[in-house]
Amino acid sequence: MEYKSCQNSLSKSKTIIFGTTGLIGSYLYNYYKKIDSKTYGFSRKNKDLYFDLEKMDFPSSSFLQKTKASYGLIPAGISKINVCENFKEKTYKTNVTGTLALVELLIKNNITPIWFSSDYVFDGINGNYNENSPTNPTTEYGRQKATLEKEIPKITNGNHLIIRPGKVYSSNLEDNTIYSEIVNSLKQKKQYRAAVDQIFSSTYIDDLVIGISKLQDLRATGIFHICSSKNLSRYEVVSLIANECNLDQSLITPIHLDELTPTFIRPKNTSIKSDKFLKLTNYNVRNLDSVLSLLKITE
Ligand SMILES: NC(=O)c1ccc[n+]([C@@H]2O[C@H](COP(=O)([O-])OP(=O)(O)OC[C@H]3O[C@@H](n4cnc5c(N)ncnc54)[C@H](OP(=O)(O)O)[C@@H]3O)[C@@H](O)[C@H]2O)c1
Repeated sequence: MEYKSCQNSLSKSKTIIFGTTGLIGSYLYNYYKKIDSKTYGFSRKNKDLYFDLEKMDFPSSSFLQKTKASYGLIPAGISKINVCENFKEKTYKTNVTGTLALVELLIKNNITPIWFSSDYVFDGINGNYNENSPTNPTTEYGRQKATLEKEIPKITNGNHLIIRPGKVYSSNLEDNTIYSEIVNSLKQKKQYRAAVDQIFSSTYIDDLVIGISKLQDLRATGIFHICSSKNLSRYEVVSLIANECNLDQSLITPIHLDELTPTFIRPKNTSIKSDKFLKLTNYNVRNLDSVLSLLKITE
């Protein structure tokens, strides 16, 4: 990981993390732990540093003051689109009500919240959205994200960071990401149906972590897309991974999203542009092909 260059300046502002057990949270926690071994990481699984968004069970203000934190990262929430669709009330409680209460608590203690939104705030008709593009979610998950995007600034008075990553992936086959899903499925010789009309941006996890720390160093506030510049369809992603990893291409079947029969409308083209982030940080998020060739070299 190319983390060294960012670590010196960041050590000045302490960051605490709410949600260390998920994909993004676990990488963030490992990163901040390396900068400061005493980094506080809260989760439902940690009885000493416990928090629960649904139950609105949070650390006390006096505890938060003692941490001397300047930033509170919130990579916690129910991230599964179908779960939000099927359990609207329960997920709203966690993703909206609980998260807003935590943001309020952080602001009360002079801690800048950093929260994760999604490209699912868009309807996926045109693609190539920027931070100012109008939102029009088609799913409950997207509606919950869009609600928070509106409500957080009211609480923070602008003192927040909202990150919209692309589809986040790592190179670890144990992580639950699109990369591991594709590689593991093709290795098991399973057919993989991939939509040619589902287009999205992607974000390598290391770049997301570096990107956030750069925004912190620059004391940036507001909303930022952090993703690679190349948008690919799911079919192109699967084909690229199969090709680079020498997996059987004949297992991949191209389909159209409409051939699936979901109970909700999945947005088709949720590709996003991160020019604002690039202009401010001068940091280029790697494209999937360059990450895959890097993995080949380091194998
Ligand atoms: N991964 C992506 O591609 C992507 C893209 C765009 C945006 N995002 C957003 O980024 C955030 C993190 O995503 P992720 O992929 O890392 O999600 P994830 O792997 O599903 O992890 C979710 C985290 O939220 C925690 N959590 C769930 N319910 C909770 C509750 N009631 N109280 C406290 N913690 C709770 C989980 O903790 P437990 O272990 O206790 O369940 C886990 O640590 C989410 O808001 C997601 O919507 C992700």
